[in-house]
Amino acid sequence: MIKWLDRYKIGHDTIDSQHRVLFEIAQETEELLTCESVDKYDRIMNLLQRLKDYTMFHFEQEEEIMLKAKYSKFFSHLALHEEFISQLDKIILQLDQELDEKVIRNMLVFSIDWIADHILKVDKYMAEEIKTKVTDI
Ligand SMILES: [Fe+2]
Repeated sequence: MIKWLDRYKIGHDTIDSQHRVLFEIAQETEELLTCESVDKYDRIMNLLQRLKDYTMFHFEQEEEIMLKAKYSKFFSHLALHEEFISQLDKIILQLDQELDEKVIRNMLVFSIDWIADHILKVDKYMAEEIKTKVTDI
């Protein structure tokens, strides 16, 4: 089950609340996948699109914060964001014709697992460094 956990907090309020929104969208998608309603595929596709749009918005914000803080690993972090967005693009394109719930669920879980892993390894590391540099970002 997709669920936001406190251990995902990296200690930066703006970034933490945006990460939480990503989990909420993914959670809503998962709930829709498990419910019995007919005609839900359009709503699922809309949610997946929203997940991608919000991810893009969030990455931009995070990148701005890293730039302001002159984060030392900015470009490698940016590359990870870009790679994930292009993967999300492919997934959404692929799922557009996909009616198999298992396939959709697997892609959703893959996406949220990537985000969780990125938060725990890459974003946390970044937050540690920028915390020591600037206090007001
Ligand atoms: Fe990030």
